[in-house]
Amino acid sequence: MRIDILTVFPDMLEGFFNCSMMARAQKAGLADIHLHDIRDYTTDKHHKTDDYPFGGCAGLVMKIEPIDRLITDLKSKRDYDEVIYTSPDGEQFNQKAANSLSLLNNIIILCGHYKGIDYRIREHLITREISIGDYVLTGGELAAAVMTDSIVRLIPGVLSDEQSALSDCFQDNLLAPPVYTRPADYKGWKVPDVLLSGNQALIDDWEFQQSMERTKKLRPDLLQ
Ligand code: ADE
Repeated sequence: MRIDILTVFPDMLEGFFNCSMMARAQKAGLADIHLHDIRDYTTDKHHKTDDYPFGGCAGLVMKIEPIDRLITDLKSKRDYDEVIYTSPDGEQFNQKAANSLSLLNNIIILCGHYKGIDYRIREHLITREISIGDYVLTGGELAAAVMTDSIVRLIPGVLSDEQSALSDCFQDNLLAPPVYTRPADYKGWKVPDVLLSGNQALIDDWEFQQSMERTKKLRPDLLQ
């Protein structure tokens, strides 16, 4: 899967995508993540990516030309399944959206900044607008990182069998059961006996009960 991220701050994301699972997925050839600096697509001598809004309100708006030029350039090289804009007023991102996006071949994620982007970009170039939660970030970079991380880890082969994404929280609308590691007794704080029993059927049953109880207590809305 190929993900092209369009931003005015590629440095914010560089480190993130060069670490841990994101780096491994790219080295294994399972995810192809490209960061593009929108500024490289400006044509004026000051490399302006933003300007004052018509109508006189405060703040700056990201300009249409460099973004259109960049998206047009990418689209001339391959077909894209979605051109996503990260925005607090978009549809709410969740595990279901991550699952379906992980099945696509090529996506573009455009990170907004300042007061937002010239609305014509949303009208003519964007196919989907996504928010990662009901709060406002300074820019869309963190949202792009959150979405890309949750999408890429679902690509077959990125996680090992033991880490299987199928056992993740939310995958079946249940929160994950508690997990423990050695030592089995730390200062008298003990790991539940069942996990040390070696009886897989009993362990599976216990984990399911725990998932149900935690979901009922912490996220009853998921069970409705
Ligand atoms: N940009 C600013 N806030 C955001 C949010 N909550 N989700 C996605 N993009 C954003």
